[in-house]
Amino acid sequence: MAACVRLQILSCLADPPAGFSLFPEIKNSIDTIARQRLISCAGGAGLLSPSKPDGIGRETQWGPSVSVNEAPPRLEIRNLVARFEGRTVVDDVSLSVQAGQVTCLLGPSGCGKSTTLRMIAGVEMQSSGEIFVDGKLVCDTVFRVPPERREIGLMFQDFALFPHLSVADNVAFGLKGDKAFKRDRVEELLNRVDLMRYIDGYPHQLSGGEQQRVALARALAPRPRIMLMDEPFSGLDNRLRDGIRDETLEILKEEDAAVLLVTHEPEEAMRMADEIALMRGGKIVQQGAPYNVFTRPVDKAAVSFFSDINVLRSEVNGALAPTPFGEFLAPGVPDNTEVEIVFRPQHVRLDFDRNGKGPSPTATDGVAARGVVERARFLGAESLVEFRMDHDGSILKATVPNVFVPNPGRVMWLTVPRDRCFVFPA
Ligand SMILES: Nc1ncnc2c1ncn2[C@@H]1O[C@H](COP(=O)(O)OP(=O)(O)OP(=O)(O)O)[C@@H](O)[C@H]1O
Ligand SMILES: [Mg+2]
Repeated sequence: MAACVRLQILSCLADPPAGFSLFPEIKNSIDTIARQRLISCAGGAGLLSPSKPDGIGRETQWGPSVSVNEAPPRLEIRNLVARFEGRTVVDDVSLSVQAGQVTCLLGPSGCGKSTTLRMIAGVEMQSSGEIFVDGKLVCDTVFRVPPERREIGLMFQDFALFPHLSVADNVAFGLKGDKAFKRDRVEELLNRVDLMRYIDGYPHQLSGGEQQRVALARALAPRPRIMLMDEPFSGLDNRLRDGIRDETLEILKEEDAAVLLVTHEPEEAMRMADEIALMRGGKIVQQGAPYNVFTRPVDKAAVSFFSDINVLRSEVNGALAPTPFGEFLAPGVPDNTEVEIVFRPQHVRLDFDRNGKGPSPTATDGVAARGVVERARFLGAESLVEFRMDHDGSILKATVPNVFVPNPGRVMWLTVPRDRCFVFPA
């Protein structure tokens, strides 16, 4: 029996929810940058067609429409620039964060994340641009509210508890008021971070995760209206980190602070953020809900920042980019333009060989291309299979949920669903 077994690779993150196309108001907006740089998401128009942008560099979240919030954003920065010795390290960064919202500044090392945070905190002076809290100016190049009067809580990677102070005194450090008031607030917060039993202990008696929670309690104690967090979880081991991230998020939401969290880990941003601001070279290159940033990347680097990628090269002819996987739509792209078709390994579909043939071409999946297994590894939650492709000898990667470790030399057929591909200028 030459039954063709299809191993369809499912994506938890990128699959639109059932019924997605039924709600016009939840169709994605695509930001201005994306409009300029993303040539097309070939064939994906049925699911996620671009609609009107809701502001420069911003995207709406999918989901039911929400009422318009009339209040000014809790935190807003406009056109922030930082220059050091003639070098621009933060370049015209604008964003806003509402109360109760977590925005993640996500980007590679050295892209200007911490410098942005330091300017908002007031410990670094911007070269130009403005910072507003609740719509009121707190800093431009002339006027400056000192850091201690900005009602901003800070939490950094080295959360630096005071070693000579007890846990209670560490948490009470920034609190003003009488003894009873301080004691009440300290107890409230230690209960919330589940560390009441250590109230009279000292930092050296606590684990890294416990110290991190004390630091969180200390930062939250004065009820900051804004929390700035710079890689606060990076000192923790992986298993501890997930739990503490979730607990921290819950507490931050309860406190209704506007949170700007810096991270270079996409997973952390996806897990914690209501909105992600993707930074590169001092600029915000894309901003939007995690779902949108992941599924509507503005360029190849934005795709590869979140995951491994496969890339096909092609030259446009008649608004189509021909490849061994069939043609991809490239509307509006002039003939002879070189383009790259980018897709994630998780979206490659695999079929077993059927008497030398693969599955028949379809409009949504294009043509199947033949590959030979070069290497396969089980990674725990998924398996990674690398194929040497017949058409040009290149390697393409596919990830498959659970265990799928075919032997090297096995022939399989790869297809690439059109709504999972991005076509960018080469
Ligand atoms: N006071 C300063 N003087 C000169 N250069 C600076 C100063 N502060 C930051 N920089 C430079 O600005 C760039 C951005 O630094 P920043 O600390 O903001 O990066 P980052 O995105 O937080 O990186 P990482 O993820 O590694 O922490 C770096 O190249 C850094 O060397
Ligand atoms: Mg940094």
